[in-house]
Formats: sequence, structure tokens, C-alpha cells
Amino acid sequence: MRTTFPVEKMKGMQTPFYYYDTDLLRSTLDAVNAETAKYGNYFVHYAVKANANKKILAVINEKGMGIDCVSGWEMEAVLDAGFPASKIVFAGVGKSDWEINLGLDKGICCFNVESIPELEIINELAAAKGKVATVCFRINPNVGAHTHANITTGLAENKFGIAMEDMERVIALAGTMKNICFKGLHFHIGSQILEMDDFVALCERINELQDKLEQSGIHIEIINVGGGLGIDYDNPNEHPVPDFESYFATYHRHLKLREGQTLHFELGRSLVAQCGSLITKVLYVKQGSYKQFAIVDAGMTDLIRPALYQAHHEIENITSDRGEEIYDVVGPICESSDVFDKGVKLNGVQRGDLLALRSAGAYGEIMASGYNCRPLPKGYVSDEL
Ligand code: LLP
Repeated sequence: MRTTFPVEKMKGMQTPFYYYDTDLLRSTLDAVNAETAKYGNYFVHYAVKANANKKILAVINEKGMGIDCVSGWEMEAVLDAGFPASKIVFAGVGKSDWEINLGLDKGICCFNVESIPELEIINELAAAKGKVATVCFRINPNVGAHTHANITTGLAENKFGIAMEDMERVIALAGTMKNICFKGLHFHIGSQILEMDDFVALCERINELQDKLEQSGIHIEIINVGGGLGIDYDNPNEHPVPDFESYFATYHRHLKLREGQTLHFELGRSLVAQCGSLITKVLYVKQGSYKQFAIVDAGMTDLIRPALYQAHHEIENITSDRGEEIYDVVGPICESSDVFDKGVKLNGVQRGDLLALRSAGAYGEIMASGYNCRPLPKGYVSDEL
């Protein structure tokens, strides 16, 4: 299932813009649903932080996924898109009162609570409304993930979650709060994880913790293992759909679920990254003293991942079949980190050519900024072009 670009249509469009291949998105979601159906008690919540484009949300809702939110604004966006509140989980280290109130009013599935002070405020706000908030505790399992330092989250040094050793105390405290109903445990060790062993390490930590909690007579209904499954940025055409089979099978094999427990996942990148490309127009080809630059009209404001995480996105010249040459592909922003990639082999580039920066469906459009007073990029789905 290789993404093809409607090049003739694109030539007439204002660039830069995001282009989403909805056939690929649907196949990806179908693959997830086929795998989770094997197990019966597995539920996927799309991590909307990866991409909140309305047209993408509509497809994801069509496929019956739940949602993982990290802000009240995300909650509003997914409620607008028609997702049921009962399938929303809400995480984040710094939830504002209005965000907690919104979750309470809408009756979301669960608050993933990250500290005792937050738990106390949720209890207070729920009491004021005469409601009971369902909560899971986000636990910092102190498990490292083999990924970029900026996107690892499960280490003791990170700001996220409550320490494993404080768990029993916190659960006991929750038991004393009238407006809190403790349901389970939440984890997330990082993002763009390709080694299944990292998830195995998480399963082992959860197993240990469950054994310990069970000895103290604590019953858990929900286990939420977060997201983190990575994608193949180097080969988007060869691996358009991530290996969901191995991912879910790893949890099935290594996590000891108890009778009646449900297992929840918060997948972001693996659902939407490969279906998206940033389409940009070449403004100039500039000969430097020892290299040539393809200067394009998209910048780090449109796709910040290369500048922020030294992330690699494959680049294709979709309007040229001239012989290959080597370029540094750079944007127009006044920052020397505004470079998409260096030494890239592209079909000969001329002014006006369109380049596609691949695997940009996750953490692309949503992380765009208005630096240099630039407008935010638009997003189009293949269904509408
Ligand atoms: N659950 C929680 C609690 C999270 O913090 C995240 C991502 C996810 C789920 C979804 O993770 P995913 O399945 O997408 O790996 N902007 C970075 C990624 C930041 C991820 C933040 N948390 C990037 O562009 O690589």
C-alpha cells in the first residue's frame, strides 16, 4: 500500500500543506482492530496529541477507537468530532481546574492522575459537583526506552507519574476520598520505540507491582500501558503499516492480566504517522561553495521534528524524474536549525518542484507554530483531492 500523490492537483495548490492518505490510515486502523479483536479485552485510545486534524479524527472515530487526551482543548476537539466521553482518558502532569471540571461534566472514562496534589484537587472539584471521578494512577516505572532523550518519559528523572514505591500509600489515600473511585494503573515509557524488549521490561514491572498490590488486597480493573510503538521513518513505502501483530502479542505473552481486567493502549504515532506527508515547493536551488541547497517554502514552523529531535524524514521530489543529485534541504526560517536534512539524494531539483517529506502524519501539523508570523499549514485528505 504505497502512498501516491495527486501531483497535477497539487501543482495548483498553495504550499506548504499536509497531505493525508486516508486509504492508508483506514488500513492501519483496520490492522489494529484485527489484532486487538484476537484478545477481546484490549482497547485502543488514539493519542490525539499526535494529530488533531478534524478529517483525521473523523476517520479514527469511524473505526471505533477511544481517545487519550492531555488537555481540555483536546477534549473539546474530540467531543466536537463526535467521540463518546465514555471512551476518553485524560492524562497530563498539570491539569487546570477548568480541564478537570470539563472531564467531570462530560463523564469521561478516566483521569490518569500524576500526583497526590492533583488527586486532592480532583476530589475537591468532584465533591463540589456531587460527582465521583474515576481515576487511574500514572506510575513512573523507571523503565528506559531506546529512543531519543526528549521523548523518553518513564525514567525516575522524568517529571511524569508517581513513583512505584509510593503506589500503595497513594491507593490507600484514594480509598479515603469520597469523590474518587480508583480503578487502575497507567504507564507510558516513551515514544518511537522499536525494540519489543522495552515493552517486555514494562510488562515485567507491571507484573511485579500487581503481585505486590494483590498481597495488600488491592484490586485493579484497568491496566493502561500508554503508547510508544515506533514506525519505520527510513522506509515509509516498504513499511507503511507498523508491526501491530508483534506489539500486541508482546503484551499478550508477557503481561499477566487478572480475571476481568481490561488492557488499554494509547497509540499516537503508529496510527497516523505514515499516512501523512508535508508537501512543499522549491523556491530556489542555491549553489554553495561545496554543496547545493534546495530552499523550500516549508520550514521548522511546519515540521519541527528534525530541528527538535534530529528526526529523519524521507524526502522525495514528486515532480521530477531527472537524474539524482545531492542536496541539503532547508527552509526559509531565520534559524540555522531550519534544516530538514543534509546530503539528501533527490531527483534533480528545479524551482517550482514539489517535495514530499514523508512519515509526517504524527507530531507534524499539530506541532506547527506561527514563528516569523507564518500562517499554520493546512491539511488535506486524499478523499477530498
Ligand atoms: N500516552 C502518553 C501518556 C503520552 O505521553 C504519549 C506521547 C502517548 C500516549 C502517545 O505516544 P506515541 O504512541 O505517539 O508514541 N513530539 C514527539 C513525541 C512526543 C510524545 C509524547 N507523548 C515526536 O515528534 O517524536
